[in-house]
Amino acid sequence: MNPDFQQYQAQTGPHPLGLEIDRASGSYLYDTRGKAYLDFIAGVSACTLGHCHPAVVQAVQEQAARYMHVMVYGEFALEPAVTLCRELAAALPAPLESTYLVNSGTEAMEGALKLARRVTGRSRIVAARNAYHGNTLGSLSLMDYETRKAPFRPLIPDIRHLRFNHLEDLNRIDRHTAAVVLETIQGGAGFILPEPGYLQAVKRRCEATGALLILDEIQPGFGRTGSLFAFTQHGCVPDVVVMGKGMASGLPVGAFTASREHMKTLSESPQLGHITTFGGNPVVAAAALATLRELRAGWLMEQALAKEQTFRAMLAHPLISEVRGRGLMLALIMEDAQVANYLVTESLKRGLLLFWLLFEPRAVRISPPLTLSEAEIQEGCTLILELLEAYPGTGVN
Ligand SMILES: Cc1ncc(COP(=O)(O)O)c(C=O)c1O
Repeated sequence: MNPDFQQYQAQTGPHPLGLEIDRASGSYLYDTRGKAYLDFIAGVSACTLGHCHPAVVQAVQEQAARYMHVMVYGEFALEPAVTLCRELAAALPAPLESTYLVNSGTEAMEGALKLARRVTGRSRIVAARNAYHGNTLGSLSLMDYETRKAPFRPLIPDIRHLRFNHLEDLNRIDRHTAAVVLETIQGGAGFILPEPGYLQAVKRRCEATGALLILDEIQPGFGRTGSLFAFTQHGCVPDVVVMGKGMASGLPVGAFTASREHMKTLSESPQLGHITTFGGNPVVAAAALATLRELRAGWLMEQALAKEQTFRAMLAHPLISEVRGRGLMLALIMEDAQVANYLVTESLKRGLLLFWLLFEPRAVRISPPLTLSEAEIQEGCTLILELLEAYPGTGVN
């Protein structure tokens, strides 16, 4: 590992993977020694169209040569950003038609929280246990892991928690609640899908109490689960949808979309209620627009569901207790955390990129580019099975 990496670049933990990447293309990364890695994680659900997709590269190159940053967000009518917002509105159900573009998922969540306070005049936020919405102070406040929160207190007050998928907890949402924030599919917790009818029940409770429903689609969003956003599969339209990660196929981005009426509260009394320098950056917006168009014009979203079936059919093994998730947002729940660690570290040595989930130590993430081919799925799954067969100390082989 390049010693300067840990010497000069601030770290997130003591054991980074430390790969030194030379280039990337399609479903493969290549390290500086020329070794190829089949990418089953897509930069943690970010590289929707794979690496250096020609449509994204072209959009970025053309826009970079035309103009890059020219003004702070919201002052100039920059064509890539305006078109992106218009096409997003066309892809979303009413009344989700006004999009605020920012630079990351957590920043989009911060904006959504401010919007909910502003619209309702209330402060209380209800979030789910085991949820992850980002790492800035507001998003971090929504988390219920005290060990991760305590060192950073005081955080924002008036946060309540409910258990995801527990209808009996919906009475925590009351007339003091500004917003309920949920991941449409719980990511860090282990790719947990909402039970049929759950999100609709949450929405009804929100309507009854005057709270907004904010759905965090940062991970399932942008086609990963078979539709542009997962919530459309659950017969429920949130008041605010929050997106990021895969939206621009690998460029830093985030956004939150709401009704025009609600969104106006951030630009009136006070004016400049939410501002950002780089939000809506034209190069990033061009990449997001290329991604959106590619998804809407082709079959990648539908194919994500067919590819899920290939993964599920292949990944039957006694050490895999369960395959969770939907489309190409899948988590292998291994027999225990040790097997999960073994699989991630050994597959890396053999040229397959897998990764962990934040809060479920038994999980191995599979969130590849949507462009991953059936042959590449076979290749990666064959290696996974081979490694599991060779797992020491189980007596499986
Ligand atoms: C569901 C969810 N929300 C929010 C975030 C935060 O996004 P970002 O890392 O871009 O701030 C993430 C990132 O992993 C996420 O998975």
